[in-house]
Amino acid sequence: MEAGKKGTLVCVGTGLNLAGQISVLSKSYIEHADVVFSLVPDGFAQHWLESLNQDVRSLQPYYAQEGEVKNRRDTYKQMVAAILDQVRLGKKVVCALYGHPGVFACVSHFAIAQAKEEGYAAQMEPGISAEACLWADVGIDPGASGHQSFEASQFMFYKHTPDPTTHLLLWQIGIAGEHTLTEFHTSSDRLQVLVEQLNEWYPLEHEIVLYEAPNLPTQTPRIERIALKKLPFAQLSSITTLLIPPSRELEFNHEILAKLGITAEDLG
Ligand SMILES: C[S@@+](CC[C@H](N)C(=O)[O-])C[C@H]1O[C@@H](n2cnc3c(N)ncnc32)[C@H](O)[C@@H]1O
Repeated sequence: MEAGKKGTLVCVGTGLNLAGQISVLSKSYIEHADVVFSLVPDGFAQHWLESLNQDVRSLQPYYAQEGEVKNRRDTYKQMVAAILDQVRLGKKVVCALYGHPGVFACVSHFAIAQAKEEGYAAQMEPGISAEACLWADVGIDPGASGHQSFEASQFMFYKHTPDPTTHLLLWQIGIAGEHTLTEFHTSSDRLQVLVEQLNEWYPLEHEIVLYEAPNLPTQTPRIERIALKKLPFAQLSSITTLLIPPSRELEFNHEILAKLGITAEDLG
């Protein structure tokens, strides 16, 4: 990292499964940091981080505590402020987030941008995301027909167009359609709206997959296959990712093939 002012920030990913999915480099950053901020799945992961560095500060308390109504935007602002305060003190700061620190995770992006704007060296180290675990556990090569990923609520609020010949991932399905940013669950009614939206491209009987990667080596992945129409009654949590496999075959692009001087037969 190029140093401007003295403080530094590195955002690292710890992977999903306890201790075993972190890169050698990210682990080293944690071990040599002055301060480590953490957002990890459970107490086991938190204790493991504390065994690597003596100053580990969980970011979890910035989320709404029991009975409190708090907008997640405020939570993220406060997390970024806490991280930046330590960078400004000239410390080597590491932010250890579960999965990949920059995939469907805004705090690391905000903190790095702010640190850089203020003249501090800041960077991100990749980690093993939920998606990486999903391809491995469900046994899919996303390159076989391509894939799309959306945050479930954003998919509902905006005019995204899924390609039913590819795999579609909807992240944060457990809070799909939750617009207040204060609740941590969705409802059957909201999921029914999503089912009707998806029905434009997928039959109601189409098989979808509820996926949860293990956070502990003793756990096994949840890979539950249900019909799309059953989604409103499915058990969803904050760690569920929805996979919708293709409902249609890939179609040849005859126009482009003609420009290339080949035909569908040439592709086998
Ligand atoms: C805020 S995003 C964080 C993603 C994380 N940065 C990553 O790289 O996996 C939270 C969403 O990630 C997915 N996720 C997190 N933990 C998961 C797990 N154990 N299994 C499957 N998906 C998970 C879910 O879609 C969840 O709603």
